[in-house]
Amino acid sequence: MRMYDLIMKKRNNDILTQEEIRYMVGGFTKGEIPDYQMSAMLMAIYFRGMNEAETLNLTMAMADSGDTLDLSGIQGVKCDKHSTGGVGDKVSLILGPMAAAAGIPVAKMSGRGLGHTGGTIDKLESIAGFRTVMEQEDFIRQVNDIGIALVGQTAHLAPADKKIYALRDVTATVDSLPLIASSIMSKKLAAGADTIVLDVKCGNGAFMREEAAAVALAKTMVRIGNGAGRHTIAVISDMNEPLGYMVGNSLEVWEALEVLQGRGDEKLTELCITLGAYMLYGTGLVKRVTNGKRKMKRVLEDGLAYKKFMEWMKAQGADTSSLSNTKQLLSAKYRLQILSDQKGYVREILADEVGIAALMLGAGRENLDSVLDYQAGFRLLKKTGDYVEEQEPIAVCYANDNSKVAEACERFQAAYRFSRERQEPKPFIKAVIQE
Ligand code: URA
Repeated sequence: MRMYDLIMKKRNNDILTQEEIRYMVGGFTKGEIPDYQMSAMLMAIYFRGMNEAETLNLTMAMADSGDTLDLSGIQGVKCDKHSTGGVGDKVSLILGPMAAAAGIPVAKMSGRGLGHTGGTIDKLESIAGFRTVMEQEDFIRQVNDIGIALVGQTAHLAPADKKIYALRDVTATVDSLPLIASSIMSKKLAAGADTIVLDVKCGNGAFMREEAAAVALAKTMVRIGNGAGRHTIAVISDMNEPLGYMVGNSLEVWEALEVLQGRGDEKLTELCITLGAYMLYGTGLVKRVTNGKRKMKRVLEDGLAYKKFMEWMKAQGADTSSLSNTKQLLSAKYRLQILSDQKGYVREILADEVGIAALMLGAGRENLDSVLDYQAGFRLLKKTGDYVEEQEPIAVCYANDNSKVAEACERFQAAYRFSRERQEPKPFIKAVIQE
């Protein structure tokens, strides 16, 4: 087999076989196929697309390219949740303990943030003492003991995806549906869960801006998951403004604790309850989604999810005093109000711009070596649908290094879009995709 022939085949819109896809992924991962040939293939895929069988074969080849997690030592049906990425997305911090409190074993691997989107591991590492690296044996024991463990994704999990993603990043081939779907699902399959619930974001802060594109991505990922023998369900949720009120690592931990204590933002709470309900439904612990929602509301109201969060923190070494005295999580050196330069109803808040403004403060990662300021970020005081007077505060900026504050606040302010009339609110949960 020759890579040249495979590139030509895809260029001519022919279908690649499973054997050809495995040859290409295996050869590239081992360094036998050079970057220039893989780049040409990625561009051919970008323009020609892949059919369902090709996308599944690509996913499986990437999932099998490194370690796969064996979760058979954990009792019960394991369920993983994955978000396609957004701004202010602290759902895993809330949903993990909610699911564990409701009886679902949570054995999760998460990533770090890059660019305008945050990562769960960075948020957890903002908690003093929290360990994100564990031996597999301890990881499994902890899930069996307390129902939840969450660690950073290792470099050995789907290494083909890591290499291919790096090449996509520099060849303008990131935003290709089969490449995004196979990239996400290869890591989920390698991470070993029996059931997968996907939170597919849609809007100005998401990979997929339009609902039709988000639905297409969700359908492709659900088919891959089911095709690989893992029950997969996707929930499509809005990302036309940051999720919740806090953007920034410690700030988001603070907000997660608010939700877990029943004082959280309504939409964020609704999303956690909905995803949790589908996790319960997907694992067969409830027969109807409405029962799942009821159960998820109960673990919040009874304080069981909060208790589970604290148990989880202790098990992974966190200094829980900083979590009991939540003021410590909001203790950045500088705090500055951001005032509106217009009046009107907030129509949308460009989530990706808010993410970039937070990155400028040090809350996010420009490149893999960036050092984070865990306490930096924004607290949004006004969200979509709120009325704002000119010069009224729309947010508070938190920072430890004030050299970038002015520029970041300016960028944040420009992310707000106003209208004279209040727009009808659109549904926050847009669709659920399952087969
Ligand atoms: N997240 C991934 O892991 N891969 C993509 O291609 C896009 C988002």
